[in-house]
Amino acid sequence: MSFRVELAVLSEHKHYCRFGLTVHNLTDQGLSNWQLQFITDRYIQPDSFTNGSIKQIGSFCTVTPSDDLLSANKHYYCEFSIGSMPLRFYSDGIKDALILVEGKAITSPVTLTPIILASPYKERTKLPVVDAHELALIPMPNKVEQSDGYFTLSASSQITLQATLAEKAATWLQEELVRIFGFSSKAIGQSDILFRNNPTLDEGAYQLTVSSSGIRLEAASSVGFVHAGATLLQLIRSETESVLVVPYIKISDSPRFKYRGMMLDCARHFHPIERVKRLINQLAHYKFNTFHWHLTDDEGWRLEIKAFPQLTSVGAYRGSGTPLEPQYSHLNSIYGGFYTQDQVKEVIAFAEDRGITVIPEIDIPGHCRAAIKSLPELLHDPEDKSQYHSIQHYNDNILSPALPGTYEFLDKVLEEVAELFPSKWVHIGADEVPEGVWIESPSCQKLMAKHGYQSAKELQGHLLRHAEQKLRTLGKRMVGWEEAQHGNKVSKDTVIYSWLSEEAALNCAKQGFDVILQPGQSTYLDMTQDYAPEEPGVDWAAVIPLENAYRYEPLAEIPDGDPIRKRILGIQCALWSEIIITQQRMDYMIFPRLTAMAEACWTDKAHRSWEGYLSRLKGHLPLLDKQDIQYRQPWK
Ligand code: ACM
Repeated sequence: MSFRVELAVLSEHKHYCRFGLTVHNLTDQGLSNWQLQFITDRYIQPDSFTNGSIKQIGSFCTVTPSDDLLSANKHYYCEFSIGSMPLRFYSDGIKDALILVEGKAITSPVTLTPIILASPYKERTKLPVVDAHELALIPMPNKVEQSDGYFTLSASSQITLQATLAEKAATWLQEELVRIFGFSSKAIGQSDILFRNNPTLDEGAYQLTVSSSGIRLEAASSVGFVHAGATLLQLIRSETESVLVVPYIKISDSPRFKYRGMMLDCARHFHPIERVKRLINQLAHYKFNTFHWHLTDDEGWRLEIKAFPQLTSVGAYRGSGTPLEPQYSHLNSIYGGFYTQDQVKEVIAFAEDRGITVIPEIDIPGHCRAAIKSLPELLHDPEDKSQYHSIQHYNDNILSPALPGTYEFLDKVLEEVAELFPSKWVHIGADEVPEGVWIESPSCQKLMAKHGYQSAKELQGHLLRHAEQKLRTLGKRMVGWEEAQHGNKVSKDTVIYSWLSEEAALNCAKQGFDVILQPGQSTYLDMTQDYAPEEPGVDWAAVIPLENAYRYEPLAEIPDGDPIRKRILGIQCALWSEIIITQQRMDYMIFPRLTAMAEACWTDKAHRSWEGYLSRLKGHLPLLDKQDIQYRQPWK
């Protein structure tokens, strides 16, 4: 016997929806002094609540009913409203629920029924039926000449190195041949796979030639050799267990964009190190060269900082009875995790072996709740009475630019980060600082008056300028979300990652900033990938079906020859992890859209084609199957 919680949409408008929530007591025990806890990512207007009251911190809600008795076989009903867009997917419903008695969780299970949506999207998009392409290469190389015939790799094939820069790529290729095809090359045998230096090629570029005399991979950079290996792995067909064949081919290839990245949020849900490495390995297969590691956020601090052990002993875990309430899942347990500095080194080395730079993100001054709760004596300003509401529904998650503790925290964290990560770039976040912040803080007001600042944005800029200068003394270049240039305080050395719109990227590029494009409408892999209500994901930026992801063309309206394009260093896709709890869900959200994004990053406009991509994707899916990647079936 258990409890059942049902949520139904009663009415919906563009920016307003009303809900009815029912709790059925299916047990044979009456409850007294009971409460309901549940998780939703929408903000519930407290004044709209009937038959009780609600308290919400982030996604974590606690309902105290006005009648504190709930008899056996009876139900409780309440209504409430949100002031945001309608819900279209089952994954928009309640994510977890728990019944408390006398403030303590009771053990009877709570069943959640799927949300009753008022007007869900209906259709699943049908993709055109295509034949699988024999050369299932993704991203499409920029020059390919195929000829008749196949080269056979056999039990006596050996990998031969004539370029020291190719050492790591050769090791990677060898490991992947074993992992994917169960094929091990000989230590001594025929030099069938030859890595050779070709000084005429640019950074990242490669040539791959397969002929009757064997397989030749050429590059002038270690990352170029990795890309050559990635292409080779996609060309291989297994004839039998011990025999692999590769079509005769000549490929000359180089990237369209210098920066090709993916961001993974490890704060909202913690991804164990093996999951992180698995993703980085996948990125190498699609010729990405940057992994942006979102390590800190309101819901968790994931990086060991030796100067402040509390950041992880407190800030890496959340759950009832701890300073951080449960968020997004796991209502009834302590949830979390963090990466030790040794593990971080392991990830960096793993990525480097695959031609991938790891950029850490320490998100300030917003998204700092886990840090503030971990180090209140440094980061909490008890005199600040400002009222604000962050996008994720917190009122206590912003660092104060007027507290000395903020600078002590920031300096020490950045010193350890700079030491730990070889990347030249350090991402400082800077996104989503809400209106209303710092207004009622006497020390912030004093700081503003001292410098003649007119707005909170300038105060944010004040702190970010400090971070930029600190990073510069540590030999690093600061990069940040598009809000980093608000308040006009950071230098043009700061690289701007636009995410709200391409317009912001264009504005920043015009001002002289280098930019990375990560528009949520095209590159956020946590967005649902189709319109059927059972599709998991969120849709606040857009629904992003495979075709939309594929057709993303950065700054399409800017002519090719426009010098402003030189400021566009590249593209990045991102996976925010509010609903990414398992490997299976992660695979489903990432694949196959990551392959579509890879082509936007790598392949020249002239060589891109949606139909061509689809037939290559069809030919490529068996390689995903071999690796047990649980992708979304494009042609279900
Ligand atoms: C972001 O999506 N807040 C960068």
